[in-house]
Amino acid sequence: MKILVTGGAGYIGSHTCLALLNEGYEVVIVDNLCNSSIESIKRIEILANQSVIFYNADVRDMVSLENVFHENSIEAVIHFAGLKSVNESINIPINYYENNVGSSIALFNIMSKFNCKILVFSSSATVYGDTAMSPIKEGSQLSANNPYGRSKLMIEEILQDLYVSDDTWHIGRLRYFNPVGAHKSGMIGEDPNGIPNNLFPYISQVAVGRRKKVNIFGGDYDTHDGTGVRDYIHVMDIADGHIKALEALNIKSQLLTINLGTGNGYSVLDVIKAFESASGLKIPYKIVGRREGDIASCYADTALASSSINWNASYNLESMCKDAWKWQTLNPNGYQKIG
Ligand code: NAD
Ligand code: UD1
Repeated sequence: MKILVTGGAGYIGSHTCLALLNEGYEVVIVDNLCNSSIESIKRIEILANQSVIFYNADVRDMVSLENVFHENSIEAVIHFAGLKSVNESINIPINYYENNVGSSIALFNIMSKFNCKILVFSSSATVYGDTAMSPIKEGSQLSANNPYGRSKLMIEEILQDLYVSDDTWHIGRLRYFNPVGAHKSGMIGEDPNGIPNNLFPYISQVAVGRRKKVNIFGGDYDTHDGTGVRDYIHVMDIADGHIKALEALNIKSQLLTINLGTGNGYSVLDVIKAFESASGLKIPYKIVGRREGDIASCYADTALASSSINWNASYNLESMCKDAWKWQTLNPNGYQKIG
């Protein structure tokens, strides 16, 4: 089965492409490399000992996208391409709507034209806003607090309208909690530009000596140790979730909306401790003020993913830290330098 993976050079996309190749799928990647490197694709090919077809193109470019569908018999699409920084989305909202919503509309149009109706879309737990009670079920009320979140919510709604208009579509909306870690080889991983916003890459960069200390955003939350609690999930579990979703969608047309999380909540201090034991290093930290827009606690109810696609997360926090650390130590400057 030939799968088009938009954003396949990125963090989650590259791990999912590797998992797809290992499961015997053929992979076509469309990525404009605006937040990734061609090196990730080279490494996927080495790890899988297979090649992928790569188009350096923008998903919004309908001429290029149509060409991809003409040149390949695409049977299903996994749509990762998009911009993902909450802060950036507040400063340049139009870019976020244009890129995230614009690329999705272009893609769904071309898919319709080529009668390709199997789609998995990267949504986010951010669509639950700041009111849902953890463990969060898929039926919880949705809201968004920033342009990034609103762009995800809009695309989810577009997909719902699409399915209502034509129920021969097979659509998966996967709401990821906090993807972290890396492939166990340490050859592919997360390579953020500039100062990382997210906790895991920030801790990794402190551990490797690129930054002095972790600033913990808030020590007075109503959690077991006062620091924010999240549902961290290994990126290879996320990759596997896509494969399970594809398998379920392939069997029957449906609109499948599921959480991808472990169901466990860990605090910032829990993560720092786990990272210290994985790396054997002391991680300096300081508790500072809360970050605007953060909530105390957020973790998934995973029952629906388990019952609907037979998927359960399998990696624990220790593996997430170990694999993130291996990637960081083998690639202290990300994809810029090999080894
Ligand atoms: P990423 O930035 O590493 O990957 C996204 C990829 O899409 C990049 O390779 C980028 O170059 C590409 N891209 C962006 N806009 C494009 C366009 N218009 N045309 C072609 N390529 C384009 O991000 P990621 O962490 O791998 O996230 C993948 C998806 O999952 C995103 O849609 C993101 O919003 C969503 N998501 C991520 C997280 C997370 O914590 N990483 C959480 C929830 C949801
Ligand atoms: C953030 C985004 C969310 C997005 C997700 C994945 C915000 C408000 N939310 O989620 O929309 O889907 O990333 O990209 O930006 N922390 C620190 N110090 C740091 C970094 C983080 O203490 O340097 C804390 C945070 O306060 C939080 C936890 O670590 O309690 C996790 O933060 P992060 O990795 O940024 O993820 P989220 O905030 O859950």
